[in-house]
Amino acid sequence: MPDTEKNEVLKFDKVRINYGSSIKALNNISLSFLEGESVVICGPNGSGKTTLLKAATGLLLPTEGRVFLANEELTKKNRNNAFKKIGFLFQDSEDQLFCPTVREDVEYGPINQGLSPETINKRVEYALHVMGLEDLADRPIHHLSGGQKKRVALAGILAMKPSVLVLDEPTNGLDAQTSYDLIKTLKHLNEDHGFTLIVVTHDMNSISQFAKRIIILKEGTIFKDGNIRDVLTNIEALEEANIEPPIITRYFYLKNKLSQEENKTLPLSIEEAIHEP
Ligand SMILES: Nc1ncnc2c1ncn2[C@@H]1O[C@H](COP(=O)(O)OP(=O)(O)OP(=O)(O)O)[C@@H](O)[C@H]1O
Ligand SMILES: [Mg+2]
Repeated sequence: MPDTEKNEVLKFDKVRINYGSSIKALNNISLSFLEGESVVICGPNGSGKTTLLKAATGLLLPTEGRVFLANEELTKKNRNNAFKKIGFLFQDSEDQLFCPTVREDVEYGPINQGLSPETINKRVEYALHVMGLEDLADRPIHHLSGGQKKRVALAGILAMKPSVLVLDEPTNGLDAQTSYDLIKTLKHLNEDHGFTLIVVTHDMNSISQFAKRIIILKEGTIFKDGNIRDVLTNIEALEEANIEPPIITRYFYLKNKLSQEENKTLPLSIEEAIHEP
């Protein structure tokens, strides 16, 4: 479907967020996200990424400006219902899990939505299956590893069937294989299950595997918003924002510079580099 025909699922209109009177975390942010998009948000520590996600999910209301979720402005009155449309994976899963077992945690949301036992069961089985947690369903949460907890937290969100998923550093602290599996799952959720994905990450080497658009924040403002290839191959601009490109992109950038072949296309991944003629 051409982008012009897709629905806007989330919109920031001139949003400012201050913490107290002196900390200006977001400064005049205007952004929109379309249904089915897969977007990464990057930026140095303290640049406003988590604040942006909190504003998207109604956990924080703007100091100035407006946030619209599925064309409805988030307000004091309706923000407690935002979770039905948008699921938020916290930076730290420990802040998100509070039931004794995996199954209880995953079914907590659907039970609170007042769904029928049959629907609850379907939702829970779906979420456990997608996150590969069937074998862990009856395990106590406090016996799980960090990576397993992250998967449970994401399963709990999927069980609520929001159309938009916002994930705050989902691969942080995961080993290489678990991280790879999670990225594959995210790609699958976006491409095959239609979830809109908005992912904050510092993991520059893997973002081209699942995202098409990248937003870079710098000191609470939008420094770049564009196609992942255009943004990640503009090394000089990334340096200005203190963002490291994928290591393979930097390698080819330096190699091309040395051999005075600066016009050559830069790869974003090892796979692309290998298949380069
Ligand atoms: N609850 C809070 N009270 C006061 N200041 C806050 C609060 N939360 C965040 N800030 C400040 O707001 C700014 C943006 O913080 P935010 O957590 O959004 O950054 P971030 O880009 O997510 O950083 P990180 O990469 O470290 O997670 C920072 O200067 C931070 O110190
Ligand atoms: Mg953060």
